[in-house]
Amino acid sequence: MITSESDGMSQGPGKVDSSGEENSWQPASWQAWEAKQQAKYPDQDELENVLQELSALPPLVTSWEILALKKQIAEAQAGNRFFLQGGDCAENFTECNSEVITNRLKVLLQMSLALTHGLQKPVVRVGRFAGQYAKPRSSDVETRDGVTLPSYRGDLVNSVEFTPAARRPDPHRLIQGHASSAMTMNFVRALVDGGFADLHHPEYWNLSWVQHSPLADEFQRLADSLGRAVNFMETISGRRAGSLKRVDFYTSHEALHLHYEQALTRTVPRQQGWFNLTTHFPWIGMRTADVGGAHVEYFRGIRNPVGIKVGPGASATQLEQLLKKLNPESEAGRIVLIHRMGVANIEARMPPLIRAVQDTGSPVLWVCDPMHGNTETTASGIKTRRFRNIMNEMETAIELHHQNDSQLGGAHLELTGENVTECTGGARNLDEADLKRAYKSIVDPRLNYEQALELSMLIVSKFDKLT
Ligand code: PEP
Ligand code: CO
Repeated sequence: MITSESDGMSQGPGKVDSSGEENSWQPASWQAWEAKQQAKYPDQDELENVLQELSALPPLVTSWEILALKKQIAEAQAGNRFFLQGGDCAENFTECNSEVITNRLKVLLQMSLALTHGLQKPVVRVGRFAGQYAKPRSSDVETRDGVTLPSYRGDLVNSVEFTPAARRPDPHRLIQGHASSAMTMNFVRALVDGGFADLHHPEYWNLSWVQHSPLADEFQRLADSLGRAVNFMETISGRRAGSLKRVDFYTSHEALHLHYEQALTRTVPRQQGWFNLTTHFPWIGMRTADVGGAHVEYFRGIRNPVGIKVGPGASATQLEQLLKKLNPESEAGRIVLIHRMGVANIEARMPPLIRAVQDTGSPVLWVCDPMHGNTETTASGIKTRRFRNIMNEMETAIELHHQNDSQLGGAHLELTGENVTECTGGARNLDEADLKRAYKSIVDPRLNYEQALELSMLIVSKFDKLT
């Protein structure tokens, strides 16, 4: 994308200021705090050289796109939009190809079509892509047959094969991560700008195998009815709905690898403050969301909208402190709280947290991630999730917010446009035996295209039943 603003002037790694003053934040300030879940690089000089190189590379997104997303999130907080965030648990470099990218975009567009139509409000579309390359792990090491090696921490850090060379954290992967993110962004931008997302042509987004899906008829009805609505609007207004040709698409990833995020944190001309220019919407993972930790310190200083994962262990006090630290001015559009309680915990955990946040008076967007609290391992050792649990957590979330004078404003999902079998259940009722057939994820199990679309239709019907 060619722009007139020279957004993203390189600042290089900032200096840690020990004065402790509120305003003394620098991109490197986090280094004075405890940073969990970081890669341990064997060669510090090699890391420093790569970070210098990274600091000089162009940014991946611009400040005005980030601020446009913040505005859309503020609208969602006011109940006027629904937030849809979805994509892989972990992207990998080998799947940075046109088929995977196009199919993922198609499923997100189809889901947003179902949601826009069903909820009668525009959808904020955010992909878990173009940078979702770093993963938190429960242990620093993995042992197989008596051999212990560093855990796989995502393609940004090391490689998944179980050999000493593959598992060695390699800083050059940071450059590859930047490049693969840029290629993904570039292709998504080109597709969206080229009319791929044109609402006059939802047939562009059809995946070939959907014709054989039990949901095919329902989706076709939806697409036809949307087509009629677009025509109706154009007939009434007497002009072609040009703005429907192009939909907004934003990127997101867990900003886990703080050296990487720091190197792309820049100031821009004619804007105050610092922006993380690797992505529009970075989020803080559940394992790194402590108020006294390095991640929260890093996020405090950037102007992007910020996602925070909220797990079953979160307390009301922790949320109050996080809001105070990350959004002291109570700015609209700044905070998205993504709860991921698990179907077994949500009913007990959510109401006190909803009330605690209401009492702060600080605006937030509540989003449900029904994936991460519902992961289980089968007897044969396969990580999976049951569609029924995912759906139940989502429906319970909608209900609980409604009962507590709050509102569920979005969904955060792990999904793919590929025809995988990683989660059981759904319209085709996949069972444990099916998991072996097309299980591709190297980290968490994702909804396939059909399950993702089914979930969006169920979200619509749950909201319908509330009113
Ligand atoms: C994730 O979103 O892939 C993830 C690891 O989530 P959480 O931090 O909620 O466990
Ligand atoms: Co995951």
